[in-house]
Amino acid sequence: MIATITKLTILAILLLATTSQASYRELFEKEFMSNPWGGNREAHSACVECHASEMMKAPMREPVFAWRDSWHAQNEVSCHDCHGGGPDDASMSMSHQRGFKGTPTLQEIPQFCGKCHLGILQNFLESGHGKALLETNSGPNCVTCHGSHDIKPASIDIINEQRCSQCHLYDRAMLMRQALFTIEKRLSGIQTNLNELRESGILLQTQRKDFFRAHSDFRTLFHTIDVNLVKEKTDEFMGRLDRIETDTRAAYVELAFRKNFSGYLLLLFLFLAFGTLMLIRTGENKK
Ligand code: HEC
Ligand code: HEC
Ligand code: HEC
Ligand code: HEC
Ligand code: HEC
Repeated sequence: MIATITKLTILAILLLATTSQASYRELFEKEFMSNPWGGNREAHSACVECHASEMMKAPMREPVFAWRDSWHAQNEVSCHDCHGGGPDDASMSMSHQRGFKGTPTLQEIPQFCGKCHLGILQNFLESGHGKALLETNSGPNCVTCHGSHDIKPASIDIINEQRCSQCHLYDRAMLMRQALFTIEKRLSGIQTNLNELRESGILLQTQRKDFFRAHSDFRTLFHTIDVNLVKEKTDEFMGRLDRIETDTRAAYVELAFRKNFSGYLLLLFLFLAFGTLMLIRTGENKK
């Protein structure tokens, strides 16, 4: 009797804990990348080994150290994914035959980054920033705002007075920051909830997908630098996020139920165990 209950309890607990989870990277590749990059990573990269070595001059070594802490490194985007070249062959790695592109000029940078960040490239090129960069070399490029080797996850904190008042008044930048703020705040709230739910075994695959799509669509929008467009789109994004939030709220209710349910199971188990013990005791006393 006790053994059966124990088995049932363990089974129930196992059923409640689900482990499989799709990583952000998988989702990202499936949703946004036309061709996933493959090939050799840091362990085999001649670029990294040679550029990190003592014999290199400081400016040639710095990119490696900055890159190691970057979001790209964590997502396995390495030197040759941006610069081209052959990371598997030290003697030929920087040859043009191996597709080495060298250091891009300021005006080349958008295409350089945009081969992976397609939607952003498009919005950027159509924007006042993109036009100013390509027509008169007076606009910012991707690196002005994100850096090149130490790139971290993006946020509206990129919009600050020091960076955005180099070419025009900060006022314009601030209006944009205000326009982005509401949705950004909701995005981070929902992300926290989705992660918390996933850790508790509730995956919400479809909702995660919708979330990442909304997240990425919204983040792309900044690059139009069109404050009115961002404001116009706010309602639409609110609607998309409302739907996801309704589902996460329902999931929290389910989670509370699961927690209570395993609590009841445990109580039941203890109760039965105690009961059996008493029965055995009474039996022994009678002997
Ligand atoms: C996300 C794309 C990206 C990755 C990944 C990347 N780079 Fe770069 N790199 C750039 C860009 C853009 C520039 C030009 C702008 C600048 O100098 O900041 C550049 C410039 C350089 C320069 C010239 C610096 C100078 O001062 O003249 C070197 C050297 C370099 N990268 C080496 C590397 C090495 C080595 C790696 C791998 C550890 C790497 N890069 C990874 C984008 C990248
Ligand atoms: C065997 C050593 C070695 C290897 C391997 C190597 N580099 Fe370099 N790299 C150098 C040296 C030395 C320089 C400086 C050349 C100069 O100052 O003219 C340099 C310069 C650069 C520059 C800046 C100058 C330019 O031409 O634009 C970039 C970018 C760069 N390397 C990227 C890479 C990438 C990407 C790889 C791998 C595909 C790689 N390197 C592999 C030694 C190496
Ligand atoms: C004037 C500054 C600026 C320039 C130029 C710029 N960005 Fe951004 N970028 C931002 C800001 C600010 C955000 C965050 C927006 C937000 O939080 O809504 C961002 C977000 C991003 C993101 C995150 C998207 C996501 O899904 O989370 C990527 C990737 C990105 N930018 C790449 C680029 C590329 C590639 C270029 C060049 C074609 C570029 N950016 C040019 C400021 C800039
Ligand atoms: C070989 C493809 C590739 C190239 C080239 C590339 N990136 Fe990325 N980038 C990625 C991937 C993959 C991620 C990680 C997934 C993500 O976070 O969106 C990423 C992430 C980012 C992020 C953080 C997005 C976030 O979640 O907040 C920024 C910002 C960014 N890249 C900017 C750049 C800039 C600027 C350049 C050019 C200097 C560049 N990227 C070149 C593939 C690339
Ligand atoms: C390298 C110079 C440069 C930097 C740095 C720069 N901008 Fe700009 N910005 C421009 C130029 C050039 C224009 C387009 C011409 C114009 O409208 O004056 C522009 C236009 C804008 C506009 C459109 C204004 C309108 O009324 O249509 C916004 C919004 C804007 N920038 C936001 C930002 C933000 C936010 C940052 C910082 C993350 C930033 N800019 C950094 C050069 C820059």
